[in-house]
Amino acid sequence: MDLEKLMNAAKAARDNAYVPYSHFAVGAALLADDGNVYTGCNVENASFGLTNCAERTAIFQMVANGARKIVAMAVIAEGERPVSPCGACRQVMAEFGVSETPVMLASVEGQTKATTIGQLLPYAFDKGDFYEHA
Ligand code: THU
Repeated sequence: MDLEKLMNAAKAARDNAYVPYSHFAVGAALLADDGNVYTGCNVENASFGLTNCAERTAIFQMVANGARKIVAMAVIAEGERPVSPCGACRQVMAEFGVSETPVMLASVEGQTKATTIGQLLPYAFDKGDFYEHA
């Protein structure tokens, strides 16, 4: 499974985004250690704070299906630059990945940025041993 295939899955998931308020559709896909790809889109709500980002939707799909580890992840949205995951999603990514877990960020327009969970969130909260993520 290469990151390009994962990005295609993220792009397809983005088509299902429920974004009547922001009109900003995001798609995410991850390869889990069970060998499956789990996808997610953002799901908004009239009570805006209840919105779930695409990244967390994908991760919660993984967990709900019994897997626990992100092997690689891809995220895509429109924009001049690749979409960058919000802080809340970074913390959830850290919970289910390792510092070196590859993350590919992209824009529909074709920009990409390769990074890792550890680069996205150094010093993630993890109940005391957070220096491991530095
Ligand atoms: N959003 C995501 O799904 N992922 C991100 O990384 C950033 C933001 C969503 C939340 C909301 O539905 C819309 O994008 C605009 O903030």
